[in-house]
Amino acid sequence: STMERSSTLFNILEVDGIPLPVLSKEMWNKISNFQARPDDLFLVTYPKSGTTWMQEILDMIKNDGDVEKCKRVNTLERYPFLEVKFPHKEKPDLEIALEMSSPRLIKTHLPSHLIPPSIWKENCKIIYVARNAKDCLVSFYHFHRMASLLPDPQNFEEFYEKFMSGKVLFGSWFDHVKGWWAAKDTHQILYLFYEDIKKNPKHEIHKVLEFLEKTLSDDIINRIVHHTSFDVMKYNPMANQTAVPSYILNHSISKFMRKGMPGDWKNYFTVAQNEEFDKDYQKKMTGSTLTFRTEI
Ligand code: A3P
Repeated sequence: STMERSSTLFNILEVDGIPLPVLSKEMWNKISNFQARPDDLFLVTYPKSGTTWMQEILDMIKNDGDVEKCKRVNTLERYPFLEVKFPHKEKPDLEIALEMSSPRLIKTHLPSHLIPPSIWKENCKIIYVARNAKDCLVSFYHFHRMASLLPDPQNFEEFYEKFMSGKVLFGSWFDHVKGWWAAKDTHQILYLFYEDIKKNPKHEIHKVLEFLEKTLSDDIINRIVHHTSFDVMKYNPMANQTAVPSYILNHSISKFMRKGMPGDWKNYFTVAQNEEFDKDYQKKMTGSTLTFRTEI
């Protein structure tokens, strides 16, 4: 596209130095004071780590593998996104969450230290999905190109710099994955990896079921694996985000369901960028027991 975006549809508010897509200070106070319920399930991710994928898996689990029920409306209308007010919706998602009946599934990209304290207090279950930084960076770059909610990324080099310095929405990938990794030692958090789900979806779905204390027949689990595979979700209009107005997500620039493959970063990183990245990565991840696969 030759059209340049002068501004983003999301207002960006800095909280603790972290740029968040939050309307105002007042809205931030409401988010911080959000009252969780003990049976809420939170899905937490750094952007582009497989959120939509896990939402589809969780919806299928909740609906016992009923595909039609999961196609009732598109993902954005099925589950509230705690900190966001979408331009095409009348109310902030937080208000939608407040009116929802239990049990709720709520999505958030907040880093662990900014999560509403009532979530800890009510000991809510949390599923965290992490994705290796290189693929996450590439996916986030393409998402910035197609989502007018976000600032124009200019070009890959510039976005690469911004990502590495944490000057992107929701801040540093490094702080995010490490913060939630540490939080899991003291809270009910199931910490999953995008690459593992890709490699063995059934195995990871079993982990989710165990965490949720739910059992499903093998038939249903196989149906979930099939329905939530990249190739099926890509053509599901209620999961591929084509139902979102095109002034918000412009699929003619880049598809939301873009590649869905670990290792796509190799098509973007130059040799120099990759070397610089690996050095920087080592420094930033020193002392952490977290390990990622950058291909499968
Ligand atoms: P790519 O841009 O690398 O293709 P999120 O939902 O957190 O925004 O993440 C979006 C990323 O997850 C995109 O990555 C998208 O293609 C990928 N994705 C979505 N559904 C998927 C699925 N069923 N299997 C694998 N990847 C999926």
